[in-house]
Amino acid sequence: MTRLRVGCVGTGFIAGRHLAALSGFGDVEVVAVADPVRERAEVAAARVGARAHADGLALLDAEELDAVWLCVPPFAHGPLETAAVARGLPFFVEKPLALDLDTAREVARQVEDRGLTTAVGYHWRQLDVVRRAARLVPAGAARLVTGSWLDKTPGVPWWPRRDGSGGQVVEQTTHVFDLARLLAGEVVSVAAAERPAADDGDVSTAAVAVLTFASGAVGSISSTRVLGWRHSVGLQVVADGQVLELTERSLDDHELRVVTADGEEVHHTDADPIAAEDREFVDVLLGRAERVQVPYAEALRTHALACAADRAARDGGTVRL
Ligand SMILES: NC(=O)c1ccc[n+]([C@@H]2O[C@H](COP(=O)([O-])OP(=O)(O)OC[C@H]3O[C@@H](n4cnc5c(N)ncnc54)[C@H](O)[C@@H]3O)[C@@H](O)[C@H]2O)c1
Repeated sequence: MTRLRVGCVGTGFIAGRHLAALSGFGDVEVVAVADPVRERAEVAAARVGARAHADGLALLDAEELDAVWLCVPPFAHGPLETAAVARGLPFFVEKPLALDLDTAREVARQVEDRGLTTAVGYHWRQLDVVRRAARLVPAGAARLVTGSWLDKTPGVPWWPRRDGSGGQVVEQTTHVFDLARLLAGEVVSVAAAERPAADDGDVSTAAVAVLTFASGAVGSISSTRVLGWRHSVGLQVVADGQVLELTERSLDDHELRVVTADGEEVHHTDADPIAAEDREFVDVLLGRAERVQVPYAEALRTHALACAADRAARDGGTVRL
């Protein structure tokens, strides 16, 4: 195969980024898109020269595809992945994997049984600054991890409801939990607390999780949605004699600050990690690369951690992983 025929389910914000990347690749043809908001699907379809559907499952029934991108809100996961697996159709899926852990575990089981190629949108892992950070803190070197997602409440209607988004920790801060796992290893337990929701829904307005890593490192990750702007999104890792600070200002603006007793270095990148993860998945499907960095099973570990932090915050206890 030298050219992939792909579809995209969901045509909102992040789908726009994926469709822009995919339609720019000479070895990809975007043949169809789907969104229950019909006009949105039609606008996206017209932009990339594809057919529009009002339903993702109908798209999968009607079109002959080599892969599908699933760019739907957290509440919409499950049936689409199951339908893709049943057809043996490789899929890229945006994070979070689902609202809850059970749905994602069931999809992971189906993906594993079918031996399907998948990729998940934990895009930080595509960045050279993140790879540099990973080289600077070899396994077991991290002692302390402090992360944050201090932001505004996203404007999409499904977000402030737990049955729409899964909550901020599961929907947004999951990127920071993923970075923490990448740079400090697996977490064995998480304790957490949260502040009550605001009037707009039932997603808490602030939360903090305290992590213990298998290596013995400890960490805390904070989330809030009460600001009118994105204040700070990122992670600090402290190892002996060294602090690494990764910051995301926007999808195309990332920075790594490395501080030692000798001074500090700052590495900035405006690389597009969304296009990079799409290119990686396409290359794997066309047999030009061996593996994706974040297949479904790897993303499931991050999702399990974010869900554990969310549960610990609601129950006020400690969850062991
Ligand atoms: N990797 C990242 O940094 C990043 C950035 C933004 C969003 N995301 C993730 O992408 C997902 C979508 O976010 P968004 O910002 O694009 O939201 P959005 O609201 O802009 O777009 C979602 C679209 O999906 C459609 N939709 C809802 N249910 C559907 C269904 N069953 N089938 C098909 N389409 C359906 C909606 O009508 C909407 O057009 C979320 O899970 C979010 O966390 C990831």
